[in-house]
Amino acid sequence: MDSYHIKGGNVLRGYIEVSGAKNAALPILAATVATRGENLLRGCPEISDVHSMVRILRSLGCTIKWEGEKMSVNTDSMTECRISDGLMKEMRSSVFLAGALLSRCGEAVISNPGGCNIGKRPIDMHLNGLKQLGVHISHTEDHLLLQGSDLEGTDITLPYPSVGATENIMLAALSAKGCTRIINSAREPEIVDLQNYINKCGGKIEGAGTGMIIVEGRRQLTGCCHKIMPDRIEAGTYLIMALATGGEILLKGIDHRLLAPLIDILQKAGYRVETGYGFIYACALGKEKICCKVDTSPYPGFPTDLQPQLTALLTVIGEGSAVNENIFEKRLKYGEQLKKMGADIEIYEKKVIIKNNKILYGADIVAQDLRGGAALIIAGLAAQGETTVANAKYIKRGYSRLTNKITGLGGVITEDGN
Ligand code: EPZ
Repeated sequence: MDSYHIKGGNVLRGYIEVSGAKNAALPILAATVATRGENLLRGCPEISDVHSMVRILRSLGCTIKWEGEKMSVNTDSMTECRISDGLMKEMRSSVFLAGALLSRCGEAVISNPGGCNIGKRPIDMHLNGLKQLGVHISHTEDHLLLQGSDLEGTDITLPYPSVGATENIMLAALSAKGCTRIINSAREPEIVDLQNYINKCGGKIEGAGTGMIIVEGRRQLTGCCHKIMPDRIEAGTYLIMALATGGEILLKGIDHRLLAPLIDILQKAGYRVETGYGFIYACALGKEKICCKVDTSPYPGFPTDLQPQLTALLTVIGEGSAVNENIFEKRLKYGEQLKKMGADIEIYEKKVIIKNNKILYGADIVAQDLRGGAALIIAGLAAQGETTVANAKYIKRGYSRLTNKITGLGGVITEDGN
């Protein structure tokens, strides 16, 4: 089993160039299917989820050249509209392809998407939105067959601001006649990046980042040059990581406004945090303490994708704090692993209570999903002694060059192959 080995106790100091955002790169790569000609994407993070998406696009016949953070995608050579089950199961984001394939081919064959084991993660909102556009959906035992080559733009109100459903409907609406309004749409910055990419290709979408997105359909989309936005979740993860070890960090190439809820908590705890155009600097002063109640919520609230990492920090400085996970129903599994390291926390169905601050001690622990795994890495670096984090595969889904970046900050971490 591939694992990370960590020797805790070092104070992390240094800087990180923030990589491109996983949750922007994936929907943008899916959206290339609705374009003709070459797309030149920069800032593509070298993570396994992007590798999975590249495998899917290549299986559909797309031509892809990928070197470092630069990727060329040309879908003119596409021959397929059916994604194989194995590739579908590799990650949840494959479901975005449904909307993109409908725009390109007028049909899509997908199986239920895979994804981190952080909850049921149904796709009912995706499918209901597509049906309102006129998509006909039939089910076989394992597959969904989506058909719709004469979609009609309409008003679609989401019962909940689902990120994926918003993006999927945006992509399907590209081929619909007239305008589609997505009301109560998700406001995540990654959706703004998707809108910007599509508009650079000749699309006409407005309102991303607000509660209503308007898509003008049936516009010819031609591949473009686009730089993927920086990954606010990677940035927040390293911010918390450095401070959990009592250190300091400079994050370059990040818009601090995207991390406002986290920065607010860190400043209230007593950390020195300075921000400016394109950077965040933070430093531990040694006396940090906080008793806070944190609720995860859709953007611009506190992001669920930083909930496990923040909890790892609070086990050390957050006596009496509570962290409520309001978005995914199985995103607290990392808690039991933190308890193996001495964390004095109570785990309930949807919340973690930090009873007392304790020094963490190294242990053999197991990652069970992407962000929970990142929290365990943080805990291992902050702990005394040695920690083994098994299931490195989960963490590699969303963090590029993790061991290089941590080693560059002065942390001691190595990786075992299988
Ligand atoms: C996206 O997932 C992100 N993934 C997630 O990041 C992120 O945690 C999540 O948005 C929330 O911000 C990507 O962008 C690739 P949702 P998504 O649809 O689209 C329920 C990470 O760690 N729901 O906003 O799946 C769902 O079960 C990953 O980088 C339905 O009930 O999130 C969940 O409880 C994890 N029916 C809630 O809504 C639906 O049809 C939010 O899901 C769709 C969603």
